[in-house]
Amino acid sequence: MAQASSRVARLIVDGNEIELPMRTGSSGPDVIEVGSLTGHGYFTYDPGFVSTASCDSELTYIDGNAGVLLHRGYPIEQLAEQSNFLEVCYLLLNGELPGGEQRDQFVNDIRRHTMVHEKVKALIQGYRRDAHPMAVLCGVVAALSAFYHYSLDIGNAEHRLKTAHRLIAKMPTLAAMSYKYARGEPFIYPRNDLGYAENFLHMTFATPCEEYQVNPVVARAMDRIFLLHADHEQNASTSTVRLAGSTGANPFSCIAAGIAALWGPSHGGANEAVLNMLAQIGDEKNIDKYVAKAKDKDDPFRLMGFGHRVYKSYDPRAKVMQQSCHEVLEALGIEDDPTLRMAQRLEKIALEDNYFVEKRLYPNVDFYSGIVLKAIGIPVEMFTVIFAIGRTPGWIAHWHEMIGGETRLGRPRQLYRGPARRDYVPVGQR
Ligand code: CMC
Repeated sequence: MAQASSRVARLIVDGNEIELPMRTGSSGPDVIEVGSLTGHGYFTYDPGFVSTASCDSELTYIDGNAGVLLHRGYPIEQLAEQSNFLEVCYLLLNGELPGGEQRDQFVNDIRRHTMVHEKVKALIQGYRRDAHPMAVLCGVVAALSAFYHYSLDIGNAEHRLKTAHRLIAKMPTLAAMSYKYARGEPFIYPRNDLGYAENFLHMTFATPCEEYQVNPVVARAMDRIFLLHADHEQNASTSTVRLAGSTGANPFSCIAAGIAALWGPSHGGANEAVLNMLAQIGDEKNIDKYVAKAKDKDDPFRLMGFGHRVYKSYDPRAKVMQQSCHEVLEALGIEDDPTLRMAQRLEKIALEDNYFVEKRLYPNVDFYSGIVLKAIGIPVEMFTVIFAIGRTPGWIAHWHEMIGGETRLGRPRQLYRGPARRDYVPVGQR
């Protein structure tokens, strides 16, 4: 809980002064508490929540101007370099890095929950063959609540923990199943002797016909992609999870709501949109034309993978991803990839162009993750699904934090601009 500050803010409305208390966090700007304004007959107005803190949280800190991202205080660069996805999941859920025994126990708990109920197969097989895997994931994750109705008491800490393990463990299984279904290939069962990312790649690319060895460089890059997406404080999908959770809804449906919010191209759908944009640009010689389109106010075209609501400098995740990108392309012997060349040219132009510099539009994590995923052989429509696997611990950790603390129903207000009260007119008189 943020500390009350000795400072106060004074708001003058129509000559009347309203004193508003302030709170201080451990990092970042102080916040002005506006909850009492309604008692004075006012609401605040902040579309897009640009200046509004919706909660206090101990999970993740971002300094968008300095390009800093910390999980429980640890810089993302150090975690990406020295840790791994499951350790970061533990950190987000528990607040501290695990000791050796705790880590082994956690890894074991996740491994033991990777299978899904056999009926889930039938559920997936009910979708149209050409269904988008995000549609499948969203529906199937919500449906998991029907499989675990006996452990959905959100007031029970054991139930909450079990659900966290189930979600982290089963998400790669469901994601791989959605991929296999679209390809008409048999589902591959999880293998608990493999690491988290390795297991996902195995379930995605193996077939029952022959042995499939996962390339360790590719497994490491996939783990890094999951890790870099693990949490990002109160982004649109996490806020959606929190809002749904504030009603007391079960965690599977809350995470499904988060998946739905993630799907949009302004959020998790951007990695898919980056590749589609590069395909649309088609050739390096067309880049200038598309950069001009992105700058044209009358043209809705935007450079996907550029800009961020919070980062007004280089997204620290993008820096790590850029390095991973080179490692993967080198390991796979496709360094001279035309898509990568185009992406690098685009990045260079955008970093030097006045429009992008003045608006502080830097490449974000999705700019490079799309290229890595393409190199690994993941089809474009699976990109956001992979983001969803990565973001799952963040969603759950925020849900946990909220349910374990003071939960207040999330219920924003509005500035009403519709007609004032009027009387109903019978149809014949309209
Ligand atoms: N290309 C061209 N112009 C842009 C872009 C872009 N990618 N992004 C922002 N702008 C311009 C925008 O037109 C506006 O100009 P003006 O001030 O003249 O009206 C100004 O920059 C501010 O943009 P905004 O849309 O008001 O800013 P926002 O904070 O609401 O939007 C954003 C952030 C991420 C939605 C936006 O930058 C965007 O659409 N980027 C492309 C999509 C993308 O890459 N999204 C992934 C975000 S990172 C993954 C994640 O964390 O989910």
